[in-house]
Amino acid sequence: MARTGSLRPTARQVNLLLEGLLVLSFVTGVMSWAVDLGWARPFTLLHAVSGLAVLVLAPLKITGSVRSGMKRGRRSRWLSAGFGLVVLATVGFGLLHATGLWHGVGYWSALWTHLLLSAVVLPLLAWHVLSRPLRPATTDLNRRALLSAGATTVAAGGLVGGQELVVRLVGLDGADRAGTGSHELASFDPGSMPVVSWLDDRIPEGDPDRWSLTIAGTEVEVAQLAAASEPLEAVLDCTGGWRSVQRWDAVPLAEVLADGPGRAIRITSATGYARLFPRSAAGSIYLATGYGGRPLRPGHGAPVRLVAPGRRGPWWVKWVTTVERTDRPAWLQFPFPLS
Ligand code: HEM
Repeated sequence: MARTGSLRPTARQVNLLLEGLLVLSFVTGVMSWAVDLGWARPFTLLHAVSGLAVLVLAPLKITGSVRSGMKRGRRSRWLSAGFGLVVLATVGFGLLHATGLWHGVGYWSALWTHLLLSAVVLPLLAWHVLSRPLRPATTDLNRRALLSAGATTVAAGGLVGGQELVVRLVGLDGADRAGTGSHELASFDPGSMPVVSWLDDRIPEGDPDRWSLTIAGTEVEVAQLAAASEPLEAVLDCTGGWRSVQRWDAVPLAEVLADGPGRAIRITSATGYARLFPRSAAGSIYLATGYGGRPLRPGHGAPVRLVAPGRRGPWWVKWVTTVERTDRPAWLQFPFPLS
């Protein structure tokens, strides 16, 4: 119980603040993925501040409602304790990724561990809120609440700034992060670039030399595309936490897709995976057949893939089979495909 006159927030205020911060962390994390590369920085910054604010408030939570809850001996106390540990582990893996102290093992990365844990946080948070409903009241928003929210934000902001300073002074890998939080990997070395796919996509079987590529209803030879290609430097920034600059051999879509009706352009992969682009994007997205002067490898989208500079990895459709105009607007799709 807080003493009268003390500036320490009440247990109820700490709980409300923490619940809000967890939601904010989740939303800003998802947004940092959903937006184009140039817009990611404000979201990763807000994400870091809200995530580290959880850490700042943790001692108050532990010495307040956690201690009294454990003494009360409710049956659900172990689930609550588990919830707390999952939140701390989520923050911990976020920090490991951001500082570059631990990248993961093979393809299993610190960031994916962070994302999986955060997916567990959500249902646990829903259970916590529903089993201990704290309906916010205007009396919660008193001077003490505003001061502690302000002090928490300043402390969390200080931690983010301090972390960036230490990472640079010590020369940790985190210093090379882009605005998306991705680490540089295998730039100009396409052979070492990881092979990843969105969720359940697999490398399609089929002979790349007999590839069927249809652009606006007309069959196009991949060799024709390759002959018309020009080198293009572009960053592939994967949602898995790495980015890689390559010199792609690519043709702007506008050169092979004649102007025509339709509000958007649909690019479909041999796997069925598809993304819609606004029709105005035809001049700024490319069909690539190679990189670094060599043909693409199967895992990287051979024989033809999309290169979408400025957009996150899931937009770079691999194994392209169809390019077509459609009346469906590009905004009418999930920011992340569902399979
Ligand atoms: C309640 C859930 C979450 C919490 C508490 C949380 C917390 C954190 C923290 C503390 C960091 C380290 C930031 C830093 O020190 O610079 C971090 C990094 C990161 N998180 Fe989350 N996170 C959550 C959910 C998510 C989700 C859902 C996503 C994406 C879908 C996400 C994506 C990221 C990314 C990309 C980074 C690296 C940012 C960077 O390196 O600057 N997080 N997170």
